[in-house]
Amino acid sequence: MTGRPSLATRLAKPWSDGAGPITPPIHQTSLFAFDDYAAFEARMMGQSAEPLYSRVQNPTVAAFEQMMADLEGGEAAVAFASGMGAISATVLALAKPGDRVACVEHVYPDSYRLLERVLRPMGVEVTYHPPQAFAEDPDLLKGVTLAYLESPTSMVMEVIDLPRAAENARRHGALTVLDNSWATPLHQRPLESGIDVVVHSASKYISGHSDTVAGVVVASSQLIARLRDLTLPLLGAKLAPFEAWLLVRGLRTLVPRMRMHEATANLFVDRLAALPQVTRVRSPGPNSTPGLSGRSGLLSIELAEGVDIPRLADALQHFRLGVSWGGFESLIVPAAITLRQSGEKNAAQRFGVSPRLVRLSLGLEDAEDLWADFAQALEAAAT
Ligand SMILES: Cc1ncc(COP(=O)(O)O)c(C=O)c1O
Repeated sequence: MTGRPSLATRLAKPWSDGAGPITPPIHQTSLFAFDDYAAFEARMMGQSAEPLYSRVQNPTVAAFEQMMADLEGGEAAVAFASGMGAISATVLALAKPGDRVACVEHVYPDSYRLLERVLRPMGVEVTYHPPQAFAEDPDLLKGVTLAYLESPTSMVMEVIDLPRAAENARRHGALTVLDNSWATPLHQRPLESGIDVVVHSASKYISGHSDTVAGVVVASSQLIARLRDLTLPLLGAKLAPFEAWLLVRGLRTLVPRMRMHEATANLFVDRLAALPQVTRVRSPGPNSTPGLSGRSGLLSIELAEGVDIPRLADALQHFRLGVSWGGFESLIVPAAITLRQSGEKNAAQRFGVSPRLVRLSLGLEDAEDLWADFAQALEAAAT
Protein backbone atom coordinates (compact mmCIF):
# COMPACT_ATOMS: atom_id res chain seq x y z
CA MET A 1 0.00 0.00 0.00
CA THR A 2 1.37 3.45 -0.86
CA GLY A 3 0.48 6.95 0.30
CA ARG A 4 -1.75 8.03 3.14
CA PRO A 5 -5.06 6.14 3.40
CA SER A 6 -8.19 8.16 2.70
CA LEU A 7 -10.20 9.70 5.48
CA ALA A 8 -12.91 6.99 5.32
CA THR A 9 -10.28 4.26 5.72
CA ARG A 10 -8.63 6.04 8.62
CA LEU A 11 -11.99 6.48 10.36
CA ALA A 12 -12.70 2.75 10.04
CA LYS A 13 -9.38 1.78 11.64
CA PRO A 14 -9.88 -0.27 14.81
CA TRP A 15 -8.77 1.44 17.99
CA SER A 16 -6.16 -1.23 18.77
CA ASP A 17 -3.89 -3.02 16.31
CA GLY A 18 -3.51 -6.17 18.42
CA ALA A 19 -5.99 -8.70 19.73
CA GLY A 20 -8.70 -7.37 22.04
CA PRO A 21 -11.27 -4.58 21.87
CA ILE A 22 -11.56 -2.69 18.61
CA THR A 23 -13.23 0.30 20.25
CA PRO A 24 -11.60 2.31 23.05
CA PRO A 25 -12.62 1.37 26.60
CA ILE A 26 -14.48 4.04 28.56
CA HIS A 27 -12.13 5.14 31.32
CA GLN A 28 -14.85 6.31 33.68
CA THR A 29 -12.54 7.48 36.43
CA SER A 30 -11.68 10.82 37.96
CA LEU A 31 -8.07 9.97 38.89
CA PHE A 32 -5.27 7.57 38.05
CA ALA A 33 -3.17 5.99 40.81
CA PHE A 34 0.59 5.34 40.68
CA ASP A 35 2.46 2.14 41.55
CA ASP A 36 5.08 3.83 43.70
CA TYR A 37 6.49 7.12 45.02
CA ALA A 38 8.99 7.50 42.19
CA ALA A 39 6.34 7.13 39.45
CA PHE A 40 4.05 9.65 41.20
CA GLU A 41 6.89 12.11 41.70
CA ALA A 42 8.05 11.75 38.08
CA ARG A 43 4.53 12.54 36.84
CA MET A 44 4.20 15.59 39.10
CA MET A 45 7.59 16.84 37.93
CA GLY A 46 6.46 16.54 34.30
CA GLN A 47 8.94 13.74 33.59
CA SER A 48 6.26 11.26 32.51
CA ALA A 49 3.00 11.64 30.61
CA GLU A 50 0.96 9.08 32.58
CA PRO A 51 -2.66 10.14 33.10
CA LEU A 52 -3.11 11.86 36.44
CA TYR A 53 -6.58 13.39 36.69
CA SER A 54 -9.48 13.36 34.20
CA ARG A 55 -9.95 17.13 34.18
CA VAL A 56 -6.78 17.36 32.12
CA GLN A 57 -6.11 13.88 30.72
CA ASN A 58 -8.18 10.78 30.07
CA PRO A 59 -7.37 7.93 27.63
CA THR A 60 -10.90 7.77 26.13
CA VAL A 61 -10.83 11.52 25.54
CA ALA A 62 -7.31 11.15 24.10
CA ALA A 63 -8.60 8.57 21.58
CA PHE A 64 -11.12 11.13 20.29
CA GLU A 65 -8.51 13.92 20.28
CA GLN A 66 -6.10 11.80 18.23
CA MET A 67 -8.77 11.02 15.64
CA MET A 68 -9.64 14.72 15.31
CA ALA A 69 -6.00 15.80 14.99
CA ASP A 70 -5.51 13.19 12.26
CA LEU A 71 -8.69 14.20 10.38
CA GLU A 72 -7.88 17.91 10.41
CA GLY A 73 -4.21 17.32 9.63
CA GLY A 74 -3.08 19.02 12.85
CA GLU A 75 -0.29 18.11 15.21
CA ALA A 76 -2.51 17.95 18.30
CA ALA A 77 -6.07 18.36 19.57
CA VAL A 78 -7.81 19.06 22.85
CA ALA A 79 -11.45 18.25 23.53
CA PHE A 80 -13.99 20.19 25.60
CA ALA A 81 -17.42 19.75 27.15
CA SER A 82 -19.06 21.84 24.41
CA GLY A 83 -18.30 23.81 21.29
CA MET A 84 -18.48 26.96 23.41
CA GLY A 85 -16.06 25.37 25.89
CA ALA A 86 -13.64 24.88 22.99
CA ILE A 87 -14.19 28.38 21.59
CA SER A 88 -13.91 30.21 24.93
CA ALA A 89 -10.82 28.19 25.93
CA THR A 90 -9.22 29.12 22.59
CA VAL A 91 -10.03 32.81 22.61
CA LEU A 92 -9.15 33.27 26.29
CA ALA A 93 -5.83 31.47 25.85
CA LEU A 94 -4.83 33.46 22.77
CA ALA A 95 -6.07 37.01 23.45
CA LYS A 96 -5.39 39.21 26.47
CA PRO A 97 -6.45 42.71 27.61
CA GLY A 98 -5.19 45.35 25.22
CA ASP A 99 -5.28 42.98 22.22
CA ARG A 100 -7.64 43.32 19.28
CA VAL A 101 -9.81 40.47 17.99
CA ALA A 102 -11.21 40.83 14.46
CA CYS A 103 -14.31 38.70 14.05
CA VAL A 104 -16.39 37.85 11.00
CA GLU A 105 -19.95 39.20 10.93
CA HIS A 106 -22.77 36.65 11.40
CA VAL A 107 -20.65 34.53 13.68
CA TYR A 108 -22.48 31.91 15.81
CA PRO A 109 -24.60 33.88 18.34
CA ASP A 110 -22.90 32.62 21.50
CA SER A 111 -19.44 33.21 20.00
CA TYR A 112 -20.60 36.78 19.40
CA ARG A 113 -21.87 37.03 22.99
CA LEU A 114 -18.57 35.61 24.30
CA LEU A 115 -16.68 38.40 22.56
CA GLU A 116 -19.14 41.08 23.67
CA ARG A 117 -19.88 39.95 27.23
CA VAL A 118 -16.57 38.43 28.33
CA LEU A 119 -13.71 39.60 26.11
CA ARG A 120 -14.75 43.23 25.63
CA PRO A 121 -15.31 43.94 29.36
CA MET A 122 -11.86 42.40 30.00
CA GLY A 123 -10.32 45.10 27.82
CA VAL A 124 -10.02 43.22 24.54
CA GLU A 125 -10.97 45.37 21.56
CA VAL A 126 -13.38 43.55 19.23
CA THR A 127 -14.17 44.57 15.66
CA TYR A 128 -16.46 42.88 13.10
CA HIS A 129 -15.94 42.61 9.37
CA PRO A 130 -17.74 41.11 6.36
CA PRO A 131 -16.33 37.72 5.26
CA GLN A 132 -14.78 38.97 2.04
CA ALA A 133 -12.81 41.71 3.86
CA PHE A 134 -10.51 39.09 5.44
CA ALA A 135 -9.31 38.04 1.98
CA GLU A 136 -9.65 41.27 0.03
CA ASP A 137 -8.26 43.84 2.44
CA PRO A 138 -4.56 43.00 2.92
CA ASP A 139 -4.27 45.41 5.87
CA LEU A 140 -7.48 44.55 7.71
CA LEU A 141 -5.53 42.58 10.32
CA LYS A 142 -2.84 45.16 10.99
CA GLY A 143 -2.50 45.37 14.78
CA VAL A 144 -4.83 42.40 15.29
CA THR A 145 -3.87 39.52 17.62
CA LEU A 146 -6.59 37.09 16.65
CA ALA A 147 -8.93 36.75 13.67
CA TYR A 148 -12.00 34.74 14.65
CA LEU A 149 -13.66 33.22 11.58
CA GLU A 150 -16.49 31.00 10.44
CA SER A 151 -16.83 29.82 6.86
CA PRO A 152 -19.62 29.54 6.04
CA THR A 153 -21.03 31.94 8.61
CA SER A 154 -24.08 31.11 10.71
CA MET A 155 -27.59 31.56 9.22
CA VAL A 156 -26.50 33.50 6.09
CA MET A 157 -23.85 30.94 5.00
CA GLU A 158 -21.31 33.38 3.57
CA VAL A 159 -17.87 31.95 2.80
CA ILE A 160 -14.33 33.23 3.30
CA ASP A 161 -11.38 32.64 0.97
CA LEU A 162 -9.34 30.94 3.69
CA PRO A 163 -5.92 30.72 1.97
CA ARG A 164 -5.98 34.46 1.25
CA ALA A 165 -7.30 35.34 4.71
CA ALA A 166 -4.57 33.19 6.31
CA GLU A 167 -1.89 34.82 4.17
CA ASN A 168 -3.07 38.32 5.15
CA ALA A 169 -3.11 37.34 8.81
CA ARG A 170 0.38 35.86 8.66
CA ARG A 171 1.74 39.06 7.13
CA HIS A 172 0.58 40.98 10.22
CA GLY A 173 1.40 38.29 12.78
CA ALA A 174 -2.26 37.66 13.61
CA LEU A 175 -3.40 34.17 14.60
CA THR A 176 -6.43 32.77 12.75
CA VAL A 177 -9.14 30.62 14.33
CA LEU A 178 -11.79 28.96 12.17
CA ASP A 179 -15.01 27.28 13.31
CA ASN A 180 -15.19 24.27 10.95
CA SER A 181 -18.34 22.69 12.39
CA TRP A 182 -20.37 23.16 9.18
CA ALA A 183 -17.94 21.59 6.71
CA THR A 184 -16.20 18.99 8.90
CA PRO A 185 -12.69 17.86 7.85
CA LEU A 186 -14.34 15.85 5.05
CA HIS A 187 -15.22 19.01 3.11
CA GLN A 188 -12.73 21.60 4.40
CA ARG A 189 -9.31 21.25 6.04
CA PRO A 190 -8.49 24.80 7.13
CA LEU A 191 -5.03 24.03 8.56
CA GLU A 192 -3.94 23.08 5.02
CA SER A 193 -5.09 26.54 3.91
CA GLY A 194 -2.81 28.17 6.47
CA ILE A 195 -5.37 28.71 9.26
CA ASP A 196 -3.72 28.32 12.69
CA VAL A 197 -6.51 26.87 14.82
CA VAL A 198 -9.63 24.85 13.98
CA VAL A 199 -12.49 24.71 16.47
CA HIS A 200 -15.57 22.50 16.29
CA SER A 201 -18.88 22.20 17.93
CA ALA A 202 -18.63 18.39 17.95
CA SER A 203 -22.30 18.43 18.96
CA LYS A 204 -23.11 18.71 15.23
CA TYR A 205 -21.80 16.45 12.43
CA ILE A 206 -18.88 15.02 14.41
CA SER A 207 -21.32 13.40 16.83
CA GLY A 208 -24.04 13.12 14.19
CA HIS A 209 -26.63 11.62 16.52
CA SER A 210 -27.98 14.64 18.46
CA ASP A 211 -27.08 12.92 21.72
CA THR A 212 -23.90 14.74 22.77
CA VAL A 213 -22.75 18.29 23.44
CA ALA A 214 -18.98 18.56 22.91
CA GLY A 215 -16.20 20.59 21.33
CA VAL A 216 -12.65 20.19 20.11
CA VAL A 217 -9.70 22.36 19.07
CA VAL A 218 -7.01 21.25 16.58
CA ALA A 219 -3.76 23.14 15.96
CA SER A 220 0.03 22.91 16.25
CA SER A 221 1.44 21.16 19.34
CA GLN A 222 2.68 24.53 20.55
CA LEU A 223 -0.75 26.23 20.42
CA ILE A 224 -2.55 23.23 21.91
CA ALA A 225 0.04 23.21 24.73
CA ARG A 226 -1.03 26.80 25.54
CA LEU A 227 -4.65 25.64 25.95
CA ARG A 228 -3.62 22.57 27.94
CA ASP A 229 -1.50 24.75 30.21
CA LEU A 230 -4.03 27.51 30.80
CA THR A 231 -7.68 27.30 29.84
CA LEU A 232 -8.30 23.53 29.87
CA PRO A 233 -7.19 23.05 33.50
CA LEU A 234 -8.23 26.42 34.88
CA LEU A 235 -11.62 26.90 33.25
CA GLY A 236 -12.18 23.16 33.51
CA ALA A 237 -14.60 22.59 30.60
CA LYS A 238 -13.21 19.11 29.97
CA LEU A 239 -14.92 16.46 27.89
CA ALA A 240 -16.36 13.48 29.79
CA PRO A 241 -15.08 9.96 28.91
CA PHE A 242 -18.49 8.64 27.91
CA GLU A 243 -19.09 11.63 25.63
CA ALA A 244 -15.67 11.05 24.04
CA TRP A 245 -16.61 7.43 23.44
CA LEU A 246 -19.87 8.54 21.75
CA LEU A 247 -17.87 10.92 19.56
CA VAL A 248 -15.44 8.19 18.46
CA ARG A 249 -18.51 6.12 17.63
CA GLY A 250 -20.03 9.02 15.69
CA LEU A 251 -16.81 9.63 13.74
CA ARG A 252 -16.84 6.05 12.40
CA THR A 253 -19.81 6.97 10.17
CA LEU A 254 -18.87 10.60 9.42
CA VAL A 255 -18.14 9.96 5.73
CA PRO A 256 -21.33 8.06 4.77
CA ARG A 257 -23.46 10.44 6.85
CA MET A 258 -21.91 13.51 5.25
CA ARG A 259 -22.30 11.98 1.77
CA MET A 260 -26.00 11.41 2.43
CA HIS A 261 -26.51 14.91 3.86
CA GLU A 262 -24.76 16.24 0.75
CA ALA A 263 -26.87 14.23 -1.71
CA THR A 264 -30.07 15.44 -0.04
CA ALA A 265 -28.81 19.03 0.03
CA ASN A 266 -27.91 18.84 -3.68
CA LEU A 267 -31.43 17.65 -4.47
CA PHE A 268 -32.94 20.46 -2.39
CA VAL A 269 -30.68 23.15 -3.87
CA ASP A 270 -31.57 22.14 -7.44
CA ARG A 271 -35.30 21.99 -6.80
CA LEU A 272 -35.51 25.03 -4.51
CA ALA A 273 -33.83 27.18 -7.16
CA ALA A 274 -36.70 26.41 -9.53
CA LEU A 275 -39.48 27.46 -7.14
CA PRO A 276 -41.06 30.91 -7.49
CA GLN A 277 -41.75 30.95 -3.71
CA VAL A 278 -38.00 30.76 -3.00
CA THR A 279 -36.21 34.03 -3.65
CA ARG A 280 -32.74 32.95 -2.55
CA VAL A 281 -30.87 29.74 -1.69
CA ARG A 282 -27.85 30.07 0.58
CA SER A 283 -25.93 26.80 0.36
CA PRO A 284 -22.21 26.94 -0.35
CA GLY A 285 -20.88 23.93 -2.22
CA PRO A 286 -17.73 22.68 -3.89
CA ASN A 287 -15.85 25.41 -5.74
CA SER A 288 -17.75 28.24 -4.05
CA THR A 289 -14.51 29.15 -2.27
CA PRO A 290 -10.95 27.75 -2.36
CA GLY A 291 -10.54 24.68 -0.19
CA LEU A 292 -14.24 23.81 0.15
CA SER A 293 -14.84 20.43 -1.50
CA GLY A 294 -18.40 19.56 -0.52
CA ARG A 295 -21.78 20.70 0.73
CA SER A 296 -23.23 19.93 4.12
CA GLY A 297 -26.89 19.48 4.99
CA LEU A 298 -27.26 22.89 6.65
CA LEU A 299 -28.59 25.59 4.31
CA SER A 300 -30.79 28.66 4.34
CA ILE A 301 -33.47 29.86 2.00
CA GLU A 302 -35.38 33.11 1.67
CA LEU A 303 -39.09 32.88 0.96
CA ALA A 304 -41.31 35.23 -1.06
CA GLU A 305 -43.95 37.35 0.70
CA GLY A 306 -46.70 34.97 -0.42
CA VAL A 307 -45.47 32.23 1.96
CA ASP A 308 -46.78 32.22 5.54
CA ILE A 309 -43.69 30.99 7.42
CA PRO A 310 -45.41 29.95 10.69
CA ARG A 311 -47.92 27.97 8.63
CA LEU A 312 -45.11 26.34 6.64
CA ALA A 313 -43.37 25.36 9.88
CA ASP A 314 -46.51 23.85 11.34
CA ALA A 315 -47.40 21.94 8.16
CA LEU A 316 -44.06 20.08 8.02
CA GLN A 317 -44.27 16.43 9.06
CA HIS A 318 -40.64 15.24 8.96
CA PHE A 319 -38.89 18.50 9.86
CA ARG A 320 -38.96 19.42 13.53
CA LEU A 321 -38.63 22.95 14.89
CA GLY A 322 -35.48 23.23 16.98
CA VAL A 323 -32.03 24.70 17.45
CA SER A 324 -28.78 22.91 16.67
CA TRP A 325 -28.15 20.86 13.53
CA GLY A 326 -25.95 18.12 12.08
CA GLY A 327 -27.90 15.18 13.50
CA PHE A 328 -29.94 12.39 11.90
CA GLU A 329 -33.17 14.40 12.09
CA SER A 330 -34.29 17.26 9.87
CA LEU A 331 -34.88 20.61 11.54
CA ILE A 332 -35.89 24.14 10.64
CA VAL A 333 -35.19 27.48 12.30
CA PRO A 334 -37.13 30.51 10.97
CA ALA A 335 -34.93 33.61 11.27
CA ALA A 336 -38.01 35.56 12.43
CA ILE A 337 -37.80 33.55 15.69
CA THR A 338 -34.04 34.16 16.04
CA LEU A 339 -34.69 37.88 15.55
CA ARG A 340 -37.11 37.81 18.51
CA GLN A 341 -34.71 36.04 20.88
CA SER A 342 -34.54 37.73 24.30
CA GLY A 343 -31.37 38.59 26.24
CA GLU A 344 -28.10 40.02 24.95
CA LYS A 345 -28.32 40.70 21.19
CA ASN A 346 -27.43 37.80 18.91
CA ALA A 347 -25.42 38.16 15.72
CA ALA A 348 -28.53 38.02 13.52
CA GLN A 349 -30.01 40.99 15.42
CA ARG A 350 -26.70 42.87 15.34
CA PHE A 351 -25.78 42.31 11.69
CA GLY A 352 -29.25 41.95 10.16
CA VAL A 353 -30.93 38.89 8.69
CA SER A 354 -34.05 38.85 6.55
CA PRO A 355 -37.12 37.72 8.53
CA ARG A 356 -37.99 35.79 5.34
CA LEU A 357 -34.97 33.52 5.89
CA VAL A 358 -35.47 29.93 7.06
CA ARG A 359 -32.58 27.62 7.98
CA LEU A 360 -32.93 23.94 7.11
CA SER A 361 -30.85 21.15 8.60
CA LEU A 362 -31.38 18.21 6.27
CA GLY A 363 -31.08 14.95 8.17
CA LEU A 364 -30.71 11.33 7.17
CA GLU A 365 -34.33 10.65 6.20
CA ASP A 366 -35.03 9.63 2.60
CA ALA A 367 -34.41 12.68 0.38
CA GLU A 368 -37.60 12.25 -1.67
CA ASP A 369 -39.69 11.92 1.52
CA LEU A 370 -38.16 15.14 2.81
CA TRP A 371 -38.76 16.93 -0.46
CA ALA A 372 -42.39 15.76 -0.66
CA ASP A 373 -42.87 17.02 2.90
CA PHE A 374 -41.31 20.39 2.15
CA ALA A 375 -43.32 20.79 -1.09
CA GLN A 376 -46.67 19.98 0.60
CA ALA A 377 -45.90 22.40 3.46
CA LEU A 378 -45.03 25.13 0.99
CA GLU A 379 -48.36 24.61 -0.74
CA ALA A 380 -50.21 24.67 2.60
CA ALA A 381 -48.45 27.94 3.47
CA ALA A 382 -49.57 29.86 0.35
CA THR A 383 -51.42 33.05 1.23
C1 LIG B 1 -21.28 27.24 14.16
C2 LIG B 1 -21.39 26.88 15.60
N1 LIG B 1 -20.31 26.99 16.38
C3 LIG B 1 -20.35 26.70 17.70
C4 LIG B 1 -21.51 26.28 18.29
C5 LIG B 1 -21.54 26.03 19.77
O1 LIG B 1 -21.42 24.67 20.01
P1 LIG B 1 -22.00 23.96 21.33
O2 LIG B 1 -23.48 24.10 21.28
O3 LIG B 1 -21.51 22.56 21.17
O4 LIG B 1 -21.42 24.64 22.51
C6 LIG B 1 -22.66 26.11 17.51
C7 LIG B 1 -23.92 25.59 18.13
O5 LIG B 1 -24.98 25.63 17.56
C8 LIG B 1 -22.61 26.44 16.13
O6 LIG B 1 -23.69 26.37 15.35
